[in-house]
Amino acid sequence: MEIVLASRNRKKAEEIQRILAAQSVEIRSLADFPDCPDVVEDAGTFDGNALKKAREVAAFTGRTALADDSGIEVAALNGDPGVYSARYAGSGATDEANVEKLLFEMRDVPDGQRAARFVCCIALAVPGGDARTFWGFAEGSLGRERKGASGFGYDPVFYPAGHDRTFAEMTASEKDELSHRRKALRQLAGFLKFLL
Ligand code: IMP
Repeated sequence: MEIVLASRNRKKAEEIQRILAAQSVEIRSLADFPDCPDVVEDAGTFDGNALKKAREVAAFTGRTALADDSGIEVAALNGDPGVYSARYAGSGATDEANVEKLLFEMRDVPDGQRAARFVCCIALAVPGGDARTFWGFAEGSLGRERKGASGFGYDPVFYPAGHDRTFAEMTASEKDELSHRRKALRQLAGFLKFLL
């Protein structure tokens, strides 16, 4: 079965291909469909954005499509930055600026009240519009300063539960094992195994 990933990111496509290999799925990225228009992520929820992207790409390509949306939710900030994680410090903000804003907003929040979680929603859609979603979460807490140099986004300030190193202090495979994206992909893999 061929599935188009609603992303031009070949690395993301390769990671998904690895996880879904056992299900005889062949992942193609939007790099193979250069005319596919960019989808505006304006739904206000993770599943709203993922479903919108997957449905639009399925309609355009005439093939089953997969899309994801992810971010970090902080309990003390009522779930912010959430779906706005990529642009928390403003549109086009760098990872550094977003992390700086988050540390600033959390400056007076004591240890023990710094719970946070990464969220990933993956949507699978067929050209007719039918779709379903798969979720993954990585629970943990926020530090007070950046630690580590690998990963991206909020990794340097996120301590996964039960660990004393941030995601940015872990190897890629250590982080993958704990990550929200991997957990959502495993849910999807289970569904495809049942379906195919
Ligand atoms: P996207 O919509 O999946 O591209 O991700 C939205 C934003 O969430 C990213 O720009 C990051 O700021 C944040 N994010 C999502 N996943 C991760 C992660 O695994 N580590 C660090 N930050 C992440």
